[in-house]
Amino acid sequence: MALNLQSIGQRLGPFERDYEEKDAILYALGVGAGFDELSYVYEDGLKVIPTFGIAAIFGFLGEVLAASKADITGILHGEQELVFFRPIPPQGKLVTTGSITDIYDKGPGKGAVVIARSLTRDAQGRKLFESVFTLFCRRDGGFGGKNVPTESFSLPDRAPNMIERSSPSPEQPLLYRLSGDLFALHVDPEFARSSGFEKPIMHGLCTYGYACRALIKHLAGGDISKLRRFKGRFSRPLYPGEPIETRIWKDGDEAVFQVVHAESGEVLIDRGYASTSEARPDAIRFDGQVAIVTGAGGGLGRVYALELAKRGAKVVINDIGTARDGSGAISAGPAQQVVDEIKALGGEAVADTHSVATPEGGKALIETAMSNFGRVDILINNAGILRDKSFSKMTPEQWRDVMAVHLDGAFYATQPAFEVMKAQGYGRIVMTTSAAGLYGNFGQANYAAAKLGLVGLMNTLKQEGARSGILVNTVAPIARSRMTEDILPPDALEKLDPSHVSPLVLFLVSNRCKCNGHIYNAGMGHYSRAVIATGPGQFMGDTPSPEDIRQQWDKIDTWKDAETYDSALEGIGAFQGHIAGN
Ligand code: NAI
Repeated sequence: MALNLQSIGQRLGPFERDYEEKDAILYALGVGAGFDELSYVYEDGLKVIPTFGIAAIFGFLGEVLAASKADITGILHGEQELVFFRPIPPQGKLVTTGSITDIYDKGPGKGAVVIARSLTRDAQGRKLFESVFTLFCRRDGGFGGKNVPTESFSLPDRAPNMIERSSPSPEQPLLYRLSGDLFALHVDPEFARSSGFEKPIMHGLCTYGYACRALIKHLAGGDISKLRRFKGRFSRPLYPGEPIETRIWKDGDEAVFQVVHAESGEVLIDRGYASTSEARPDAIRFDGQVAIVTGAGGGLGRVYALELAKRGAKVVINDIGTARDGSGAISAGPAQQVVDEIKALGGEAVADTHSVATPEGGKALIETAMSNFGRVDILINNAGILRDKSFSKMTPEQWRDVMAVHLDGAFYATQPAFEVMKAQGYGRIVMTTSAAGLYGNFGQANYAAAKLGLVGLMNTLKQEGARSGILVNTVAPIARSRMTEDILPPDALEKLDPSHVSPLVLFLVSNRCKCNGHIYNAGMGHYSRAVIATGPGQFMGDTPSPEDIRQQWDKIDTWKDAETYDSALEGIGAFQGHIAGN
């Protein structure tokens, strides 16, 4: 049976597992703990080995297997990564949800790779750990999908700092399997022989647990709560009773490691990585960069600014401290308050109270960045006001004021920033649109028009900036703020923390982002791309009559098989292609 590609993105779980101290102790014994690590095996002050987590949610891995429809006779656990948020309590409930995030194709006869991510919380909803589980499906390759992206990894060109030697007993798998992985390969000699092994083999995750104990001892000073990240690739099977070595190369609060057969030197777990640092090895940072966030005195802008500063950016906090409808005198209070918050966290920021709604204000804002920090790498056009009214009652003033802040404001702030970025050869710009602009909203004609206008601005800037390394993208946020507090129902507002929007915006303004001219919805933990697409249409000769149009309406009106275009030229080219094809 073919792999189920439709399983990508489907929510799996919640998968619940109650456990007791006895389960954590059984696991510890299964991965070789004994009298010299009494706190892992004695209920008096019991500490749970962090990798217990993956054994305890083994049933979830079964759900991944079932959803992917991988051929069970060809599967191997490829890699396992765990990220720990807090120590696993000695007893309680684990609640796991996740999904298959990718299915890769290594080619015909070479297998496929299924990747599943999951998050496990305790019964109170606190995050305990995240898992990235890689299933290698030897018999499922060749379906024409993308190959697995390569990840570079190298061991230091020096001897390991530490070597931990262990001797799993010949009966080790019999003990380990009681933690959840009851697969016959690890217990049934006949099954093992029919699978090509001379006898039952160790569980890869059991060897993984041995390695985790070694890393806690040598990297985390014996303190389980310090381990933040633990990862390894299973490269070779091991027979029980054979001695192993965990070889550790330590570098500050990180280490790379291998588990090898102590006698033959064959690598059993490769590409091992462990860290006691909160920071991820692939952390997105903005050290040395300068960011401007307009309207950053509150709401979403404040969260973007704080997160940018936490990751090393120097931030210009622009805000005039106006009321939601743009009324009231300019107040430096909100911008200064965010600057103070950033400084209290040890970051660098400066307040700017120029209105983006005038050309002078936009220019002065960029000058604030240049005179204080000397460059502009990031501009987030976020400032906004609301003047909602049904269209018949909307006054020209209400129309103009909203246009002035959202659309004109983005033009006035972006133009001088664009010049600085062009000279630097690097820049990231984000426009802020809205579901009202993308899809329409009653009573927001002014706002919706301004917000979709920003998409048009992006569409041109993406072309004019690309040669200078300037990328421009657009976010349509949905978040709790004073802008939405009386528009959305209270139960929806509860789920709308602005901190759910900032991860996407931070990615878009990072040097890791290579997208240009894209629109993304973001909020409530969900992120998606929105596009302007064109249907295939119908060629009808030079001068069809309105009646002819009506007759062919279904074909003209459909957006089935719609395409997106990167530029007006590409769109016109496609149009000509349709004509030529007839
Ligand atoms: P907010 O009202 O908390 O933030 C807007 C900020 O812009 C305010 O602090 C305000 O003082 C400032 N501002 C207004 N006029 C300004 C000007 N001329 N110059 C400088 N600053 C000015 O609202 P929120 O929700 O944080 O909105 C941020 C952006 O996200 C806005 O562009 C909004 O249209 C957009 N948005 C928000 C959504 C949401 O669900 N909160 C939904 C869709 C879009």
